[in-house]
Amino acid sequence: MEKQTKVLITGATGKSGGAAIDELLKMGYPVRAMVHSIDERSQELVRKGVEVVVGDLLNLNDISAAMKSIDTAYLCFPILVPGVLQATAYFAQAAVENGLKGIVNMSQISARREAKSNAAQDHWVGEQILNNTGIPVTHLRPTFFDDWFLYIRDGIHTNSSIVLPFENGRWAPVDSADLGRVVARVATNIDDYKEQVLKLYGPEEYNVFEMSEIISNVLGRTVKYEPVTIGQFFEINSKRAASEHFVQHVTHVSEDCVNGIFSGTNDLIETITGNKPTTLADFFTRNKALFV
Ligand SMILES: NC(=O)c1ccc[n+]([C@@H]2O[C@H](COP(=O)([O-])OP(=O)(O)OC[C@H]3O[C@@H](n4cnc5c(N)ncnc54)[C@H](OP(=O)(O)O)[C@@H]3O)[C@@H](O)[C@H]2O)c1
Repeated sequence: MEKQTKVLITGATGKSGGAAIDELLKMGYPVRAMVHSIDERSQELVRKGVEVVVGDLLNLNDISAAMKSIDTAYLCFPILVPGVLQATAYFAQAAVENGLKGIVNMSQISARREAKSNAAQDHWVGEQILNNTGIPVTHLRPTFFDDWFLYIRDGIHTNSSIVLPFENGRWAPVDSADLGRVVARVATNIDDYKEQVLKLYGPEEYNVFEMSEIISNVLGRTVKYEPVTIGQFFEINSKRAASEHFVQHVTHVSEDCVNGIFSGTNDLIETITGNKPTTLADFFTRNKALFV
């Protein structure tokens, strides 16, 4: 039988949003997906039985219309482009207009008042705006996603090298599908998690030299870590045009990573979802074909 809580997922064709939808469907909840545009990804959601609406998170009327008759909603705005603060303010206003019962907000571990990354500081300000709505809200603050390795896939694939600007910084890579499962559980049990800031880590913390050994083992060939400066990082990855906003963000979160802001691990993902979180080896095993 379909459950009562109706959940709105934004960023629905993205990584964590897509995984959240799959989990909600498995759990038997009705889902509305807000997509940025109609394309093959949104049509796949329709095929899965999801109610799909099109809208722009940078348009108050769109997000307010998407929230009609919704109980709880997930806010996910991409990191590659500017606008997270505007999107969050509109989302907060729309949530109040529609009397939402709960909000799950994708933030990040580097979200701090004193963050030098504009996006990280905006995530922190956005958290305060959502807190001030009086609606129960849970903030998710994950460390770096495994998906970073897809971003630098060409270097691993072609040159057997991991080129990253993180020096000896340590973190426990977290899988976006695990985060999606967390979103689904929190959005449907908001009273258990309201007013909480959940720091979400993968199960094992490493520096990139240690990661390169694990990756080499899974891929069956030596892949070396080559620490680079920010300038070199974006030059090497120049095939993917990066916005000024993204360069500014990566510049400062790299410093944060070196300074230990991303380090640590915990068992929150397993506690919330009941599933063992994905390890780095699992991620590379699952995606091996993309790297060989
Ligand atoms: N990557 C990391 O290591 C990391 C670490 C910690 C936290 N985070 C946080 O995770 C969030 C990103 O999550 P994600 O990686 O799951 O998302 P994602 O895969 O980047 O997907 C973003 C989604 O938002 C949609 N979208 C983009 N602009 C939109 C707009 N103006 N209106 C409506 N929809 C729009 C995209 O659709 P289209 O593709 O059609 O535009 C896409 O479905 C960011 O807030 C970031 O700070 C990321």
